[in-house]
This record gives sequence, C-alpha cells and structure tokens, in this order.
Amino acid sequence: MRGTRGVVGVAALAAALGGLWLSPALQLVPSAMAQSPSAAPASPQSRPSGAPRKPAAPPAAAAPAGPSAAQLAAEQAQRQRFQAECLACHGVGGQSQQPEVPSLAGQHAFYAITQLFLYREGRRANPVMSAVARGMSDADMRAFSELIAALPATPAGVDGAATDPVRMRRGAELALRHRCGACHGSDYTGGAQVARIAGQREDYLRLVLGEFQSGARLGYTTAMNETLAGLSPDDLGALAYFLARVR
Ligand code: HEC
Ligand code: HEC
Repeated sequence: MRGTRGVVGVAALAAALGGLWLSPALQLVPSAMAQSPSAAPASPQSRPSGAPRKPAAPPAAAAPAGPSAAQLAAEQAQRQRFQAECLACHGVGGQSQQPEVPSLAGQHAFYAITQLFLYREGRRANPVMSAVARGMSDADMRAFSELIAALPATPAGVDGAATDPVRMRRGAELALRHRCGACHGSDYTGGAQVARIAGQREDYLRLVLGEFQSGARLGYTTAMNETLAGLSPDDLGALAYFLARVR
C-alpha cells in the first residue's frame, strides 16, 4: 500500500521539482530513478545528465547587467541564514556533531533540494525539518541546496576511533551483496538524486535505514524500501558502521 502511494507521488514531485529547479547547468530528469532504478546515476563520474556542464561561454548577448542589487541582497541573506540557522544544527562546514542530525557536507544539490521539498510537502516526516522547510520559498530551497553542494565532503571516520576490521568486512560484504553501490556509486558518494552515504554519521545512517525498512520513510522512490527487505537489525547496524567509516 505504502509503496503504491510512494510511486504515485513521484510524478507530482518530479513535476514540481522540474519547475523548482531553474539552473540549466543542474537540470536533471527527475523521473529517471522512478522509471528505471538500474539506470540510476551510479557515480558522479558516470552521470550523463548530472555532470555539471558549464555553458561553453557566458551568454554574451544576455541582459547587460548582472544580478540586480535586490538579488544580491537576497543571496547574501540566504547565505547568512544558512550559516546561522542551518549549520547551527548541521555543524560547522556541514559536518554534524549532533546525534541523529545528518552531515550535509558533500551532499548533492539535487538530492538536497528533493529532501527539502519532501519535508515541505510532508512526504518526509520529521518535526524539526518539516517546520524548517515550511518556511522556505522555492528560491530559498534552491539557494540552500547549492550552498550544501558547495561544502567539501566530510572525511570518513573522522572521530579517529579504532575501526573493527571484522565489523567492517561484514558491512562491506552486505553492501556488495545488496548492491548498494549500484545506485550510490562504488565509493558510496552518490550522485544527483542519490544520497552520498560514505562518511555520514553512523547513528543517522542506522536511524534512516530502519525508517526505510519499516516504510516510515518513503523517499523519492521506493527503491530503498525494497532494497532493505529481509535485512536483520544487526545487518542494518553493520551497514551503518561500514558506511560511516568507508574511505
Ligand atoms: C534544529 C535543528 C535543525 C535545523 C535548524 C536545520 N536542520 Fe536540517 N535536519 C535536521 C535533522 C534532525 C535532520 C534529519 C531529519 C530526519 O531524520 O528526517 C535534518 C535533515 C536535513 C536534510 C536531509 C539530509 C539527508 O541526508 O537526507 C537537509 C537537506 C537539511 N536538513 C537541510 C537543512 C537546511 C537547508 C536548514 C536551514 C534552513 C536546516 N536543515 C536546518 C536538523 C536541523
Ligand atoms: C535502486 C537504487 C538504490 C539502491 C540499490 C540502494 N539505494 Fe540507498 N538510496 C537510493 C535513493 C534514490 C535514495 C534517496 C531516497 C530519497 O529520496 O529519500 C537513497 C537513500 C539512502 C539513504 C539515506 C541517505 C540520507 O542522507 O538520508 C541511505 C542511508 C541509503 N540509501 C543506504 C543504502 C544502502 C545501505 C543500500 C544497500 C543495502 C542502498 N542504499 C541501496 C537508491 C538506492
């Protein structure tokens, strides 16, 4: 039932995001995942449509002036709000120090804007983020997503704690067997609307894997819900352990 609802929702989401996302360099085909999970962008290197293709030359004959003073002021305000409000929770540089608050550093712009949209529309439920997202205009979402994508990725295993090789091997084997890398990239850094999961906080990874498995989190497509069917709580723990530390 839930799965059906998720798939139906994707069309509306894709349409809305298409209108939301105005930057031509980042324009993607949001329905690609829904139609064919196996054709998901596997890694940043092999993203045909997601590769940041800069226009060959700035449109020389475009409007003579650059952004207006009002636009510049709005961008400045969004940057300040991002630093003061978002990073207060998500950590300096987007590297979270708080339990169950995800790091945003290195997350992809399209993934980030999709999640903000899901929170705002109530499709991804979290009391904190839903409240934050409700106050966002489309322009805010776009600006925040681009600011997120510009943060350098969190180095994996930053806490310096010793890594248990047995647990790492178990997590790596599970990730291979369940083909996590087919969508998240062989190095788990994601791409386009597929999340970066390498180096994410272990507690957050464990939390959301449980939520996908139970159907509490549906996601942009039902890919994650289906992928985790049949895994034990212990398996989810080993995957989270491995992904938080994988380099
Ligand atoms: C009070 C703390 C708090 C504030 C402020 C906050 N966030 Fe969050 N954010 C969270 C938590 C907690 C989650 C994870 C929620 C969940 O489990 O769904 C989250 C999730 C996210 C995600 C999804 C990340 C992922 O990996 O799926 C994005 C994107 C995000 N926040 C962006 C923002 C932006 C942009 C702002 C500022 C406008 C912001 N957040 C402000 C706590 C906060
Ligand atoms: C068929 C493609 C596919 C496969 C296979 C897949 N994922 Fe995902 N995964 C996705 C997509 C797409 C998202 C974003 C979902 C959304 O819109 O919320 C995601 C999201 C996630 C997230 C949430 C990230 C965040 O920041 O909140 C985690 C964690 C995750 N996947 C882990 C895994 C693990 C572990 C495996 C293997 C057991 C796996 N995935 C296999 C496509 C896939």
